Amino acid sequence: MMQEYHKEAIQHPIFKLIGQTSEELGVDCFVIGGFVRDYLLQRGTPKDIDIVAVGSGIELAKKVALKLDGKPQVSVFKNFGTAMIKHGDLELEFVGARKESYDRNSRKPIVEDGTLEDDQNRRDFTINAMAISLNEKNFGELIDPFDGRADLEKKTIRTPLEPGITYSDDPLRMMRAIRFATQLNFEIELKSLQAITEHQERIKIISRERVVDELHKILLSKKPSIGFALMHKTGLLPIILPELTALQGIEEIEGQRHKDNFWHTLEVVDNISETTDNLWLRWAALLHDIGKAPTKRFHKRIGWTFHGHEFVGSKMVYKLFKRLRMPLNDKMKFVQKMVLMSSRPIILSEDHVTDSAVRRLVFDAGEFVDDLMTLCEADITTKNPKKQRRYKNNFKIVRQKIVEVEERDHIRNFQPPVSGEEIMRVFNLKPSKEIGIIKEAIKEAILEGEIPNEYEAAYVYMLQKGKELDLKPHTNEE
Ligand code: CTP
Repeated sequence: MMQEYHKEAIQHPIFKLIGQTSEELGVDCFVIGGFVRDYLLQRGTPKDIDIVAVGSGIELAKKVALKLDGKPQVSVFKNFGTAMIKHGDLELEFVGARKESYDRNSRKPIVEDGTLEDDQNRRDFTINAMAISLNEKNFGELIDPFDGRADLEKKTIRTPLEPGITYSDDPLRMMRAIRFATQLNFEIELKSLQAITEHQERIKIISRERVVDELHKILLSKKPSIGFALMHKTGLLPIILPELTALQGIEEIEGQRHKDNFWHTLEVVDNISETTDNLWLRWAALLHDIGKAPTKRFHKRIGWTFHGHEFVGSKMVYKLFKRLRMPLNDKMKFVQKMVLMSSRPIILSEDHVTDSAVRRLVFDAGEFVDDLMTLCEADITTKNPKKQRRYKNNFKIVRQKIVEVEERDHIRNFQPPVSGEEIMRVFNLKPSKEIGIIKEAIKEAILEGEIPNEYEAAYVYMLQKGKELDLKPHTNEE
């Protein structure tokens, strides 16, 4: 094989310093993995740098740290046989070449006495197994025993060993293969796809946090559908996200069909990924229709219905997040809200758009009303150009109305114009249900457009409502 040099990849003075230090220790060392891959893909020079030493990575890290300005701390992870140094914006991870796999969760002892080739053998993909030498004798030489370079050209994900071995070593790699295929728009080699299909069940031994990390990365890719389609094809999807698998398929009764909501969902996710990088809005797009599987019914007269799927779907979001050990925080609530409200702007746009309907939408969606509109626009997947134009235009009208109504009525961060305390004072009330009734009536009157969202109007309205409830204003009040 021709020797190939990439000195420009390792121009940063830190590489020379690491190389010299390893000479002093009498060991060879290389930069390897994602750094080399991303450099060759011209994705820039990454800040995460993996260094492999043919000897002790920890020793090398310690000696390097002593030579750096400020003598940075070395974080040693003995169990993993690795050491980490933060240097400026760089994160350097040192590891000794090993014969064992890179399964970070493995309870197997770390075997550090491998050669560089042993180490490369045990990595996940050929494109991640390329190394660049930092040693004086061949500084900058690319060491690529599995021709990862060609796989980069061919846009192929391939394992260095038999795929069954590589995936058994660390089943998370099945998700990593799919994630890299999605991020880089690469194909997974057929043999590898077959091995993933064969070993799909083994994903269950991987911690959910690590799996979710890969899901996030797939969702944050330019075209997330690639990843979910691959998960579907290899059988990982029903294990990880059975709610999505359940959406797949078209049923036909008496000549009436419904759309395939799985493939529709993937289109929606791709659509939304063109307009937003918000991970949680992308999650909302992925989950917006999950309530459709359990609510699907066929009625002789009206055909297929999914009544209440938004409500059911938003409940399912909670269970799904919990199962995947995702945070049950405001992000989850945001996704729930988007799923729950996902049909609201559609219903609105099909009708004549009244101001009060828009006020109610803005009131319910609050600060997330724009995100909701973005989701609904992404939901347009009709292939009929005329319909597509009409739907898009309808949403444009809704968006305009939202701006108009908001300028006038300030509903987005609605604060009751008359407070509960004031109502109590005016009518000389103790905390009681009347206060709630009056507050609710004021809010309703504002949303209906009977009164403007202003203090004076709300005050007069409060007095009127109080009268209806047989309440008398306190004599001390004017
Ligand atoms: N690796 C592996 N098997 C894993 C995880 C990692 O073989 N399950 C190896 C690969 O050689 C990889 C390197 O360890 O390139 C570093 O892993 P990591 O930092 O997780 O990934 P990167 O390849 O750097 O890519 P990214 O930062 O996009 O995750």
